[in-house]
Amino acid sequence: MGAIRFALPKQGRPISIAGYRTAARRVLPDLVWAYVENGADDSVTLAANRSAFARWSLRQRVLRSSAGRKTAARFGDTELAIPVMIAPTGINGLVHWRGELATACGAAAAGSRIVLSTAASYSVEEVAAASPVGHWLQVYPWRDRELMDWLLERGRRSDCPTLVVTVDTPVFGNREPERLQGMSIPPVLTPRHVLDAALHPRWAYKVLRHQRVFTGNLVGMSGVRAGALAAKVRRERMMAGELDWDDFARVRAQWQGLCYVKGILDADDAERAVSLGADGIIVSNHGGRQLDGAPATLDALPGIADRLAHRATVLIDGGIRRGTDVVKALCLGADGCLIGRPALYGLAVGGESGVEHVLSILREEIDRTLALMGCSDIADLGRDWLIPG
Ligand SMILES: Cc1cc2nc3c(=O)[nH]c(=O)nc-3n(C[C@H](O)[C@H](O)[C@H](O)COP(=O)(O)O)c2cc1C
Repeated sequence: MGAIRFALPKQGRPISIAGYRTAARRVLPDLVWAYVENGADDSVTLAANRSAFARWSLRQRVLRSSAGRKTAARFGDTELAIPVMIAPTGINGLVHWRGELATACGAAAAGSRIVLSTAASYSVEEVAAASPVGHWLQVYPWRDRELMDWLLERGRRSDCPTLVVTVDTPVFGNREPERLQGMSIPPVLTPRHVLDAALHPRWAYKVLRHQRVFTGNLVGMSGVRAGALAAKVRRERMMAGELDWDDFARVRAQWQGLCYVKGILDADDAERAVSLGADGIIVSNHGGRQLDGAPATLDALPGIADRLAHRATVLIDGGIRRGTDVVKALCLGADGCLIGRPALYGLAVGGESGVEHVLSILREEIDRTLALMGCSDIADLGRDWLIPG
């Protein structure tokens, strides 16, 4: 009989997305944490995104061999090891000095892809050079045709297979913690920020040394001048409250590849987007950062999936933190999911390998969930696998 061996608990990597969240809070200064974490107004929608998942139970069937479980997915031309991509989030260079380069490489290593934000710290060309696997590009339906042509042409040349048009930002959501922290683009540093940075020396040394916190995509350069330019573009063109469906139709006509619309919560809007040429819909409330009081995405999903009846791919984001969440979304009609903040937690804690690990945690959790449910393929998931309440 072997001797009993004692071991101290490992001070290793987090083992869940909640663990990554706790670790990221320690790594990031208050300003950056406020940017990453908070919702709009009273964060009612932010909380609803999470609580919606708890209202569904998973059906458990037993003694049904589920060997060789399948978690792979295909969104349009994009083959994935799991039905999860990384949602577009701006200025990843504020979270980790390698920003979207690390996010993209981490995603690719886990068999997934990112949707690169227009407001990324690194440009679409830089991301394609670091990770040439066909990441997607996100834009806003700006009216400035010249600016759109310029951005779309760069996406095309960088082999982005899919364009994502975000439509839920007619104006900025009211993110009060961010405002109280003085978050702006470009960031204006106050003595409080300097002290905050000094308390996070590892973050401060790397991020400030590399100066890739500003929006590299808009201006194709880095540094303070880029930040000022980006702020100007953003003020003048990004948050134009007068945008309408004609603006989407124009962008759609300008792009030859696949095109998804992000920020849909209403079945009529989903129908309209598809009638104007969208190949996919992303059911999203911007992670609770725009309209507070908007429905949880999981609650909006079934009505949209039913209306579209497989005429377009349906993806969802908002509050996905466990493999069980992904499985529930697939049961309710989603073809796949995206994660925003969880990828940023991984990025903050471990750069590229942190992002890869967050996705591999989700992959393991999805696989384990399927085994425990007695289901061998995500393609077999449907509403009959869910029990309300
Ligand atoms: C810090 C941060 C920045 C974001 N920036 C963008 C963006 O530039 N473009 C966009 O379409 N959505 C943006 N989003 C929304 C995400 O794409 C996504 O809808 C949301 O994060 C999903 O919710 P989750 O964080 O609970 O997973 C951002 C979200 C966060 C948290």
